[in-house]
Amino acid sequence: VQVTNEVQASTGNDAGTVRVGLLGCGNVGGALVEILDREGDTIARHLGVRLVITRVAVRSISNARVEAVGAGRLTRDAHGVVVDPDVDVVVELIGGIEPARELIAAALRAGKPVVTGNKELLAIYGGELFALAEQSGQALLFEAAVAGAIPLIRALAVSLAGEPIMRVMGIVNGTTNFILSQMSEERITYTEALGEAQRLGFAERDPSADVEGFDASAKAAILASLAFNADVVAGDVYREGIDKIELSDIDFARRLGYEVKLLAVAERVSDPTACETEIAVRVHPAMLPAEHPLAGVRGPFNAVFIEGAHAGELMLYGRGAGGVPTASAVLGDLIEVASSLTSGASPRPIHRDSVAIRPIDELLTQYYVTLDVADRPGVLAAVATAFGAHSVSIRSMEQVGLGDEARLVFITHVAKEADLQATLAELGRLDAVRRIGGLLRVIGVER
Ligand SMILES: NC(=O)c1ccc[n+]([C@@H]2O[C@H](COP(=O)([O-])OP(=O)(O)OC[C@H]3O[C@@H](n4cnc5c(N)ncnc54)[C@H](OP(=O)(O)O)[C@@H]3O)[C@@H](O)[C@H]2O)c1
Repeated sequence: VQVTNEVQASTGNDAGTVRVGLLGCGNVGGALVEILDREGDTIARHLGVRLVITRVAVRSISNARVEAVGAGRLTRDAHGVVVDPDVDVVVELIGGIEPARELIAAALRAGKPVVTGNKELLAIYGGELFALAEQSGQALLFEAAVAGAIPLIRALAVSLAGEPIMRVMGIVNGTTNFILSQMSEERITYTEALGEAQRLGFAERDPSADVEGFDASAKAAILASLAFNADVVAGDVYREGIDKIELSDIDFARRLGYEVKLLAVAERVSDPTACETEIAVRVHPAMLPAEHPLAGVRGPFNAVFIEGAHAGELMLYGRGAGGVPTASAVLGDLIEVASSLTSGASPRPIHRDSVAIRPIDELLTQYYVTLDVADRPGVLAAVATAFGAHSVSIRSMEQVGLGDEARLVFITHVAKEADLQATLAELGRLDAVRRIGGLLRVIGVER
């Protein structure tokens, strides 16, 4: 296969060849090795850049791995790969904080561009690492960190770079979307749906990072940073998971024309022309109108709905995880890095301002709330008084009998989160209230 020779790699290596040092060869790294070994020639023919994985660092070297990757490129010395003069680009697919953070920093300091899929790391240390990338004049690309195969980061960072983004709202965790879809479609409980997700390999044995919303909040921080050129870390994101959702909540939502989804929301709450940008970032399950494009995203799929002041509404949809789909996103970044190495182009600029983050207490939305109460006279009046005392106005109420108890299901008018929380605290103190059940925020215009 002929490699275009006009392009001269700035690497002192063969013209048009970019040598990749891969850190981690698990689900994603292994898939990247396979794809590049198989399709490297085609990529070289089409793009004039040959990507060659020359070194692969792993924790353990088994016979099967030697067979898959080749003994010559395998090593246990990840740092050695980073500083190897025969490596032009470093791909970090180890995951977690250390040693990934130190290895990425070392690569940037050594003047090498880096591609990573590590959302956990970027959501905490993104500010520090991007500053280092800027200082070193090197690219730090991370398409695989949010929504797997979906070219979402490039869309926000490049195609929509000049767009005043108003809101990014997404289903960015396939595990929880699979569980909620199963509950809704198969009418099974949360525990049954989680078991099914684990059986099919969509959920880990310890599912807490997914079901408690940690994974989605790391992604929300990254999306907010990009959409609003802001320094947002995972700790800035308000987070609730799906582990308290009951089948009855989903049934009730469906009856009213809603689907329950775990949403990551990053929105501008200040005017786009204001000097100071104020944003809100949160992850929580929500009732989404069935006609909303995100409501139809089922199973393990991801989708992100972007609202721009000029572009209007856009939606990107696809596979959010899996070794091969995620490796496709890594490959896109690698090609971008390799093209700029061979052409001498500067990396994408990274610009981050500090922004104000509006606390969840100030959120204005409608709420769905369920209460299990003693079924006796006067209870309803006491409950209604608690709502009224905190200026939360009830839009609709339904009562379902449960033996000597009753379940009250409320949808409120638009209310402030702090007022709703104060209402729940007061309700919790009422003798007749046995349990406060589901709490869901309702997305969309009040209807
Ligand atoms: N899997 C997905 O669907 C997905 C989707 C989006 C983003 N990501 C991100 O992509 C990254 C990789 O995920 P993955 O699923 O491929 O992980 P994985 O299957 O657990 O693979 C991790 C790899 O890193 C290696 N490793 C661990 N510690 C090391 C060290 N100190 N030095 C050298 N190698 C080391 C492991 O080696 P051994 O094999 O020898 O233990 C393994 O090959 C993570 O940041 C993840 O969040 C993954």
